[in-house]
Amino acid sequence: MIVKMDVNRLAVGMYVVDTGLSWLEYPYLFSSQGPITSEKTIQAITSEGYAEAFIDTQRSGFDDDATRRLSGGTLFKEAFTGQSSPASASGISVPMAQELPAARKVYEDALAFAKDFIHKAYQEKSVDFERSEAFVSDVISSVSRNRETLTGLCKLRFYDEYSYTHSINVTVLATAFGQYLGLPGDELHPLGLGALFHDIGKANIPREVLNKPGRLDAREFQVIKRHPLESYVILKGMGALTPKVLSAIVEHHEKYDGSGYPRGIGGEEVSMFARIISLADVYDALTSERVYKKGMPPAQALGVMYGMREKDFHPTMVERFIKCLGIYPVGSFVRLSDSRYGLVWASNALAPLFPTVKAAFDDALRPIPAEFVDLAEPGLASAGPPLTIAEAVDPRRFNIDISAVMN
Ligand SMILES: [Fe+2]
Ligand SMILES: [Fe+2]
Repeated sequence: MIVKMDVNRLAVGMYVVDTGLSWLEYPYLFSSQGPITSEKTIQAITSEGYAEAFIDTQRSGFDDDATRRLSGGTLFKEAFTGQSSPASASGISVPMAQELPAARKVYEDALAFAKDFIHKAYQEKSVDFERSEAFVSDVISSVSRNRETLTGLCKLRFYDEYSYTHSINVTVLATAFGQYLGLPGDELHPLGLGALFHDIGKANIPREVLNKPGRLDAREFQVIKRHPLESYVILKGMGALTPKVLSAIVEHHEKYDGSGYPRGIGGEEVSMFARIISLADVYDALTSERVYKKGMPPAQALGVMYGMREKDFHPTMVERFIKCLGIYPVGSFVRLSDSRYGLVWASNALAPLFPTVKAAFDDALRPIPAEFVDLAEPGLASAGPPLTIAEAVDPRRFNIDISAVMN
């Protein structure tokens, strides 16, 4: 399990993980992957001003009890093994195969729109509200028919630039999560707009700070920390967004423990919209491929986010986010216990560890005739132990184009 902790609690032998979260938004995160080998290293880390690090408890040699103590109670898997009731209906009124063409179209249109959107924001400091609203409406329609198809698609696109896909993905994820939480339709629309515009203030941050390859210094981080307020500055004059949306945008980097920015508010003070957007924001950041890092498989990213509960995230909100996407979100590439590989096709809100998988590759990753396996329903005919997911794997490691499997 991966747990976020204060650098003061680091000890020799602990294994630090690089989650790939960017310098820009997490400048106090120590993320040189590898074991801590000496007290000297710890002193150096603290004196350089780092405040937190992610630790892999398994590679650090901790057993379950020690991991439990470190992570404040429950292990990631334990938290989701039991039966759980979904916050809203399954989120599926139309099967994925049927929703796929519509979802693809929404996403393709959105990518074209995003390029124009970024250009307008950066060059002209303007926003096309009409197109933004139409996009958010399309997203709401798609996730209302089938919550998982569009969210799955977001994670199957690897080759587009993060700056284009990020606001699109955060909109899709936040809207899907809002729908899961049971927010009414007239709330989903402003939530989606808030998600779409959350980082637009980066357009007002000097390019040399945004594109700095190395670690930001204290002054540069102060500049970066202005981006939520700059989003507000750009948007407020346009009069098209409600105060609720604007404050969600301003609060998208506030944290549950009060260590966020710009105001350092925490707990229940952070608005519901902002909590939703920040979960979607971090999930997309962790899973996205960038020039300088690989994206994490979705299941691993959710594990990391679970380890951030009560620090970055409201504890019950992160649990609900994980239940919404499923431990193995649709679009995850997994190895089954019989060594076949496949794509998670539909989640199971009642038993999140047992989704339906479309098995499409043999143990050597050669294509095989696809079979849909519902892991919650062990086939009567099959002898041997019931199939489970052995692990989530990164298809990019094997150069596999899983979008072809999605048909
Ligand atoms: Fe941001
Ligand atoms: Fe963001």
